[in-house]
Amino acid sequence: MVFGEHKQSPNPDMGGTENQDVPGIYKLIEQDIGVSEIVGEIFKNYHNPEALYLGFNYLLQKGSDGEATIRFIAQNDKGSLGEIATKILESKSVAPGELEQIVGMPDRMKNMMALPENYSHEDVVNFYLEAARYCKEKYGDEVDVPKDSSELNFYLDTFSGHGIVAPQLSGEVEQESLVVSNTFGTAELTYLELNGPEEILRLRDIEKPDLLLLGSMGSYSAREFSAYCKKINSTAKPHVIDRYCDMVGDFAGERDMEFKIADALDLPHEDGSMDQVYTNYLLHSFIHDNRKEINREILSKLFAEINRVLKEKGSFVLAEHPYGLNIGSGGSKENIKELIAVALQNGFDISNSTEGFAYSYVIRQDVIDFKTGQGGAQIDEYGFAKYGDSLIEKLSPSMGFRFQKK
Ligand SMILES: C[S@@+](CC[C@H](N)C(=O)[O-])C[C@H]1O[C@@H](n2cnc3c(N)ncnc32)[C@H](O)[C@@H]1O
Repeated sequence: MVFGEHKQSPNPDMGGTENQDVPGIYKLIEQDIGVSEIVGEIFKNYHNPEALYLGFNYLLQKGSDGEATIRFIAQNDKGSLGEIATKILESKSVAPGELEQIVGMPDRMKNMMALPENYSHEDVVNFYLEAARYCKEKYGDEVDVPKDSSELNFYLDTFSGHGIVAPQLSGEVEQESLVVSNTFGTAELTYLELNGPEEILRLRDIEKPDLLLLGSMGSYSAREFSAYCKKINSTAKPHVIDRYCDMVGDFAGERDMEFKIADALDLPHEDGSMDQVYTNYLLHSFIHDNRKEINREILSKLFAEINRVLKEKGSFVLAEHPYGLNIGSGGSKENIKELIAVALQNGFDISNSTEGFAYSYVIRQDVIDFKTGQGGAQIDEYGFAKYGDSLIEKLSPSMGFRFQKK
């Protein structure tokens, strides 16, 4: 378990969107204007790490042309840009997090904790004790932590993806101090990181982008999703569907959101009508059959439907627990292989992945407030999500992917 330093008070700025205009360097990247123009922007923005991230990331996507340009900067600039270019060339393949470090951005997820891979009951107790201590320090909240094995089983069930209670349905989510229910907002970080700044700026640059969540389980996820969409782009239109009437809260029509009772396998939306589609721990609820070929069939239908409703350049972003044969088994490798195969067969490319984990807030007060739409991450003008001093859990086994419509 690793804790970084943290401040005493919550960040008062969290939850807003500073600027809806996309930065000039992104406009040029989006037009695929060419490496020499982007180098000009890199030199103009030498003091701005986030602009440098966008510029160098563009060059990294440009294969041998991009590499030659980074080499040119490394050889010819005697200042900080030359150093950055040299560090990039020295790394074999540069992951987004590593590029953020190289260009000098501060760690956006400084308070991170995770259970060890094969955790014991004692590890879970220690995890909750640390989280409770942190919650008390930050919010002054006294938190009950599991004391005996029956209480601990409650938490273990939460961890294994078999939530034995659904505070979402009984309207009790805000009574949680530590997160024990996976609503959309608890996994907001997974979605923001899977999108990354370029995809967030792409969505911000669209007038009224349409975003769709499949499955809500009460009002919390729908409302948190709605608030998330508005943070990305205040003109965004959130759409939510759920198959079962009794899963619907009293939120229809709120925050400009469209809600429909519908089956994810047979969506009521027009072809090419959505800029993004999301699932939030949906698959395990309808792929619990342990016959693999049935999983494939259902998954294929789901991916084909999502592909149909996505616009050109649209993407499908998911955060999921292991499902099917892997439910409760603690593993997700087979699911990951299967998801990739099904995505490729149904008209998608893989844009981004967290592979076997997802990110979650640990303290409920750090999650977006479903009533006001405030809180959670703040997204800055360069499309980077800022998590302030929020306590973040690296949750595994879980799966996160962003699939891009081909
Ligand atoms: C486990 S919950 C998803 C997690 C949710 N975001 C939350 O707040 O916990 C799954 C939701 O998907 C819905 N669902 C299950 N199968 C579905 C389907 N085929 N089409 C649409 N919704 C479905 C269920 O009714 C339920 O509300």
